[in-house]
Amino acid sequence: MLDHLEAVLPDPILGIIAAHAADSNPRKIDLGIGVYRDEHGNTPILQCVLEAERILDSTQTSKSYLGPRGVPGFNSAMQELIFGSAGAVREHNRVRTVQTPGGTGALRVGADLIKAASPDARVWASDPTWANHNAIFTAAGLTLESYPYFDRQNSSLRYDDMMSTLQERGPGDVVLFHACCHNPCGVSPEPGQWETIADIAAERGFLPMVDVAYQGFERGIEEDALAVRLFAEKCPELIVASSCSKNFAVYRERVGAISVVCANDQKAADVETVIHSLTRKNYSMPPTHGTGIVDIILHSAELRALWLDEVTAMRERINGLRQELVERIVAAGIEQDFSFLQRQTGMFSFLGLSVEQVRRLREQYSIYTVDSARVNIASFNDSNIDYFIESLKAVL
Ligand code: LMR
Repeated sequence: MLDHLEAVLPDPILGIIAAHAADSNPRKIDLGIGVYRDEHGNTPILQCVLEAERILDSTQTSKSYLGPRGVPGFNSAMQELIFGSAGAVREHNRVRTVQTPGGTGALRVGADLIKAASPDARVWASDPTWANHNAIFTAAGLTLESYPYFDRQNSSLRYDDMMSTLQERGPGDVVLFHACCHNPCGVSPEPGQWETIADIAAERGFLPMVDVAYQGFERGIEEDALAVRLFAEKCPELIVASSCSKNFAVYRERVGAISVVCANDQKAADVETVIHSLTRKNYSMPPTHGTGIVDIILHSAELRALWLDEVTAMRERINGLRQELVERIVAAGIEQDFSFLQRQTGMFSFLGLSVEQVRRLREQYSIYTVDSARVNIASFNDSNIDYFIESLKAVL
């Protein structure tokens, strides 16, 4: 039977990791996958995570199953982080949060939940969106359509076009948003625009779903939850897929959560049972090492403060790099305008290069990124930025 299977190409983002690893050029640069890197090019374990892991190791007495909810303290702390301590949906018990294996796990559980609730639902994602969104929703048997989002000419938001498309959505539609640090384009709506988007969701009756993969990387932990909190305040229903991969730098531990807001407490309790039934058929119960670490951090005033400092440092380093890149590109005499890099946020931006230019960067300069020319800004440092700019100048 397995003989019928043909090899498939690796996921483009994951394929870059392997291609970069196999390259022996000492000047090689990996601008592909979205992991934070420090000025030495490393992705260190955060201090707060090291501390919490020590505490976990010395206090954990069993590896027995914890059940489908996983670590309860993690779920409640994540809920507070996302919806705020004073969120009305929490006061009225209208939300349930369940840990998942990473943000991808949360998206897949959310997609399965939508499929179970409304098999013919149409899911709308921004054009462009994270490539895996398409794969995840399609694998759950849903159709993914797109709404206008990124203006490639001006490297900005197509706000009016997006709003016209959202105005035409209604019950039966799910609209997927990136809470902050849009992946791949780095462009987000302004706070006032989020307010209008949430009003439209409430008015038109479509179900908002928010992917929160970079909370803390755009403006701050509280600020980056704005979109979620506005939808929660204005709409009867909402699905939120969150990831701790980036903001706790626990990538390989697979730490994430799905939160579902329903019209009332009873419906939220019912929906949680559906989530447990879906995950039981998939991975049965979630892993708890990473969520145990995050639980400890978020419940310790000292570790939480340390974590907030570490997130701020990561955000500020990326913003500093954005500014530095723009300045150095100008200083190198490159005429093409890259000033948009400084107006965008998070790890990613599009460089606006052709596929041919991306291939030349890879083949002639060992600089690796995906064909769309999305780059991970956090990959730059003092040792590679000049080489990158020389190479960019050469391919332009
Ligand atoms: C990315 O877009 O590079 C990250 O979200 C990591 C991934 O899994 O693709």
